[in-house]
Amino acid sequence: MFKIGLSKNAAIARARLAGICNRGFSTETGSKLEGKVALITGAATGIGKATAEKFIQNGAKVVIADIQPQLGQETAKELGPNAAFIACDVTKESDLSNAVDFTISRHNQLDIMYNNAGIACKTPPSIADLDLTVFDRVMNINVRGVVAGIKHASRVMIPRKSGCILCTASVTGILGGLSQHTYSISKCTVIGIVKSVAAELCRHGIRVNCISPFAIPTAFVMEELTQIYRGVDTSRLVELIHKAGALEGAKCEPCDIANAALYLASDDAKYVNGHNLVVDGGFTSSKTLGFPAPDQMQ
Ligand SMILES: NC(=O)c1ccc[n+]([C@@H]2O[C@H](COP(=O)([O-])OP(=O)(O)OC[C@H]3O[C@@H](n4cnc5c(N)ncnc54)[C@H](O)[C@@H]3O)[C@@H](O)[C@H]2O)c1
Repeated sequence: MFKIGLSKNAAIARARLAGICNRGFSTETGSKLEGKVALITGAATGIGKATAEKFIQNGAKVVIADIQPQLGQETAKELGPNAAFIACDVTKESDLSNAVDFTISRHNQLDIMYNNAGIACKTPPSIADLDLTVFDRVMNINVRGVVAGIKHASRVMIPRKSGCILCTASVTGILGGLSQHTYSISKCTVIGIVKSVAAELCRHGIRVNCISPFAIPTAFVMEELTQIYRGVDTSRLVELIHKAGALEGAKCEPCDIANAALYLASDDAKYVNGHNLVVDGGFTSSKTLGFPAPDQMQ
């Protein structure tokens, strides 16, 4: 996913962070989502799991939809009686339709649909070498999966004239050069989808927003980094990710995205619509010219 520096022999390496999710989020409970029902794709682990836990802590019932059945079941069990799991591959429209129907049959309503599932990509860094088969595969999950999730959530939310749709985009959808083209294009598109769909669904009382996280050492990110930096300690790779951030003294964690999702899903954000909430410690807000200090020019 992430584009990283040139190695000594000038071979371009890529990064796709994965694996270890430093949960580190607070177990503080609240009632911001009391009585609400959420369906979250890609919630067996990582950001989706942290969000499922946060939503449950705030009174929601959550359906975890994920392509990994065993991990998904384990996560649902770990999160307790207010979590349920349904197997779902977001590239299959019928799976997403089933996940929505399962949620309705279990809880009679769907208030929050969080289209979070996404993958990184392994493609050559240059557009000239782009493998369009890989491009299609990534777009199928990261873009088509989001559109299908929104479509089927709308099917049940429009008649109720209420609902909240969330999607996970990325800082790589805002700034070029942070990741390979395919991933960047997919996340840029998610931000566009949100604006396009919000324009229609606002008339039905449904809010549509996305969240753009900075790099977090979750499974898919660590997996790629461990392949690139073979033999390097996991803790050093996690540090590498956190040190790339802009905000001194803080690091981006799944709990930060879960908190953003909680805000957007709750009544605190009742008038926030068509928005991309960037959670990046200010990384995409500024760039320096790197001019030397006056005394360094003497
Ligand atoms: N971790 C980061 O640095 C980062 C930064 C910006 C955006 N994101 C985005 O956040 C989202 C969540 O990623 P994460 O970091 O938690 O990664 P993760 O690998 O921990 O979790 C991704 C989850 O999605 C599931 N998934 C993958 N393909 C699927 C499919 N076809 N159908 C259903 N589920 C599927 C996986 O099984 C997994 O549970 C993704 O959309 C990712 O692109 C991550």
